[in-house]
Amino acid sequence: MFNNRITRRRSLWLGLGALATIGMSNKFIHTYYGGNMRALGETNQDFTVVGTASLRQRAAAKGLIYGAAANYETLSVDTGLANSLIQECGMLVPEGELKWGFVQGIRNQFDFTQGDWLANFASTHNMLFRGHTLVWHLVLPEWFDEIVNQQNAEGIFTEHIATVTQHYAGQMHSWDVVNEAIDIDDGRADGLRQAPWLQLLGPDYIELAFRVAAEADPNALLVYNETAFEYDTPRDEARRIAILNLLERLKSRGTPIHGLGIQSHLLGDGKPYFNAQKFRQFLADVASLGLKIFITELDVTDDVLAFDIDNRDRIIAEVYEDYLSTVLDEPAVIAVLTWGLSDKVTWLSDYAPRADSEAVRPLPLNSNFQRKLAWNAIARAFDNAPTR
Ligand code: XIL
Repeated sequence: MFNNRITRRRSLWLGLGALATIGMSNKFIHTYYGGNMRALGETNQDFTVVGTASLRQRAAAKGLIYGAAANYETLSVDTGLANSLIQECGMLVPEGELKWGFVQGIRNQFDFTQGDWLANFASTHNMLFRGHTLVWHLVLPEWFDEIVNQQNAEGIFTEHIATVTQHYAGQMHSWDVVNEAIDIDDGRADGLRQAPWLQLLGPDYIELAFRVAAEADPNALLVYNETAFEYDTPRDEARRIAILNLLERLKSRGTPIHGLGIQSHLLGDGKPYFNAQKFRQFLADVASLGLKIFITELDVTDDVLAFDIDNRDRIIAEVYEDYLSTVLDEPAVIAVLTWGLSDKVTWLSDYAPRADSEAVRPLPLNSNFQRKLAWNAIARAFDNAPTR
């Protein structure tokens, strides 16, 4: 659902994953995907980092922003997480508190309590704040199906966007206005998902969302956010084409859209499927539309990698550095956010758990908030990035 490669893989690999885990040495991870065996071996990449500067400092030195997602439930009580975020991050994005189902869980009752707490945390610690997400087909409130119909949909849609965007006007660096509107499996020529809002309002719901948000907060950067198109597979290529077509349509109509968000939920064994040249070209195509690019939800799932923690961390770090060294070559990329900061709090524990039930290790800091090789990889990518 969020990243159907993970979902699909979990079903495919439940058995194979266990097989691969059982049948391999610590040195090599042989996994099967679509019938092609891929050897994922020990990486000998050097992850040396110069100095102790934080990710925030290293990004800022190149005119970039580094941040992370966090949620009120953990951040408000975990001082280790709070201190790490303050040290490492120049931007904060609420993991869920600004989604429709959280903010307007009860019809006509807007609850900004937790979002405001997070906004205050960010401003107190001189962090930029970004909103996620005004329009999505998921995390809709329970009353949606009961109440929303063809007659009242536009009013409810525009009222929600305007109310939430106005509430945070002046505080928001950028908003994910629409999230995950593409699903080529739904068979539309434009590749759009048969999302509830498309069924109620037609494909122009996307343009409408941006126009309402722009009127409510003329200063926030307005972003279209999308997932699962980072790899050199027919499916991801088709999704990239649909995304570019959508962006071109929006721009051709003068829609107030300022950027593309690339969620970047990467696969720990995805290296053989990442084509840096093709992805650079895609990024350049997006930039040629005059759009900025945000890496919005970066993490690297290790659900099918062997248990060996040192080797797993090395493979994960290599994925981070290979991907970021590619995307940061594109000057239109202005921000990198990981979807979480510490392995202690990651959505992947639920959405891409390991078959061996061991803790997943997708993020820059371990569960004790210590820097991992993934941190080194991100630091090196910032250090080696062209200055904006
Ligand atoms: C996820 C959160 O991290 C989870 O805690 C929640 O249960 C489901 O949503 N893409 C997105 C994010 O755009 O909103 C999703 O966040 C992860 C995938």
